[in-house]
Amino acid sequence: MARNIDDDHNDSGFPFASRRSFLGLSAAASAAFALRIVTEPMLAHARVHNFPKDAIRIDANENPLGPCASAREAAVAIVAEGGRYSDYLTDDLIKMLAEMEGLKVEQVRVYAGSTEPLHHTVAAFASPQHCYVTADPGYEAGMFAAHAVGAKVVRVPLTKTYAHDVRAMISAAPDAGVFYVCSPNNPTGTLTGHSDIEYLVENKPKDSVVLVDEAYIHFSDAVSVMDLVRAGKDVILLRTFSKIYGMAGLRCGAVFARPDLLEKLENYGGGNFMPITALVAASASLKDAQLVPERKRINATVRSEVFAWLDRNGYSYVPSESNCFMLDTKKPAKAAIDALAKQNVFIGRIWPVWPTYARITIGTAPEMELFQAAWQKVMTGAVTASVGTVPGWGELPRRGNWDGVVRRA
Ligand SMILES: Cc1ncc(COP(=O)(O)O)c(C=O)c1O
Repeated sequence: MARNIDDDHNDSGFPFASRRSFLGLSAAASAAFALRIVTEPMLAHARVHNFPKDAIRIDANENPLGPCASAREAAVAIVAEGGRYSDYLTDDLIKMLAEMEGLKVEQVRVYAGSTEPLHHTVAAFASPQHCYVTADPGYEAGMFAAHAVGAKVVRVPLTKTYAHDVRAMISAAPDAGVFYVCSPNNPTGTLTGHSDIEYLVENKPKDSVVLVDEAYIHFSDAVSVMDLVRAGKDVILLRTFSKIYGMAGLRCGAVFARPDLLEKLENYGGGNFMPITALVAASASLKDAQLVPERKRINATVRSEVFAWLDRNGYSYVPSESNCFMLDTKKPAKAAIDALAKQNVFIGRIWPVWPTYARITIGTAPEMELFQAAWQKVMTGAVTASVGTVPGWGELPRRGNWDGVVRRA
C-alpha cells in the first residue's frame, strides 16, 4: 500500500507531490512516479530568489572560479553541434572516468549532477520498512527523498570530532535500507575516515547499502572509498563536477557502484542523454592535470586566512577541510544571516540541531574580506536586522514535521 504522505504533512511546505499522485500505486511505483528532486540551490536559495547586484554569494557551496578555461572553450565549441544527440560523448566520459578510477564501464553512470543518483539510491533502497540513516548535521537532500518514499529518517549526531558516528548509525538502525555518509560532510566540512566507512560497510544490515557522497573530496586530503567499489562491496559512491570543477550550472555528476546496484537506481530514472556542453566540459576538466591541485590550494589558502582572522577576533567555528564551514553566531543564527544580507553578504543556512551556527562557503579572497568586515559589524552590533524583515526572504521548508528521529546507540 502506498503511504499517504500528505495525511501527515499537509501543511509542511515540502515540495512533495500531491496526495492524488500516490493513490493506487505500489510503494515502489509511487516512488518512481512521485519522487521530486530537492537540490542544494533549492535549500540554499529558499529565502533569497533574486540576489541584488554585486551580492557576495557564499551561501550555496558554489565555486566562484567557475569552469576551467579548457572546459569553457570545449562547451562553447560544441554548441554548433547541438542539433545532434551525440550520445557517444556520454560513453566517452564514462570510459574516461572508469579508466581513471580503475573500474569497468559497467560500474559508472553519469547524470546531470549527483543529485539524481542520490535521490534514486534512496528511492531504490529505502522504504517504509527500511529507514534512511544520516548524520546530523548532514546534507538534507536524501532526507527529502526518504520522506517522499515513506521511509523513516534516522539522524545520528556527529562525533566529538565531527565525523559520522558509524557505530551509532549501525546500532540505531537495524532496519536500515540506506546509510548516507558525506565526507567531507556538508555542512561541517569534516571528514569520516576510510576505516570508519569500511567498518560501516562490513557491519551494516544485509541488503542495505552505504551511499558515500564525495562531492567535496577534492578540497581535502580524505582517502576515497573508491577501493570499496572496486572490491564489489555494497557501496554506491557519488561524485560531482559542481564543486572543485566549478560546473554547478553546467550539471554533471557521476555514480560508481556494482552493476547490479546501478541497475536498481535506473528504475527511478537515468539513461537519458546528457547535455553535450556538460559532457565536453567535464572531459576537458578531467584532462587538466593542474585543476584539482591548484584549486585545492587556492581554497585552502583562503580558508586558512579566514580561520586565522576568526581566531584573532575570538569567533568560534568548526575547522573544515572543505569549501564550507560552520560559524557560531552565539545566538539563533537567523539574526546574523539577516544582518549580513542587509550588507549584501549572503551566507548559508541553519541546521536545526545547531541553531546558533550558519554555513559559510569559501569564496574568493576579496569576497571573504568583505564577509569579514560585514560579520564584524554584525557581531559588534553596528548592523542589526529584525529577524524576518529583510525583503525577499521567505521561510525555509519547516523541518519539525519530518519523520526524523535522533537515536543514540
Ligand atoms: C553533499 C552534496 N551532495 C550532492 C550535491 C549535489 O550536487 P550536484 O547535483 O550539483 O552534483 C551537493 C550540492 O551541493 C552536496 O552538497
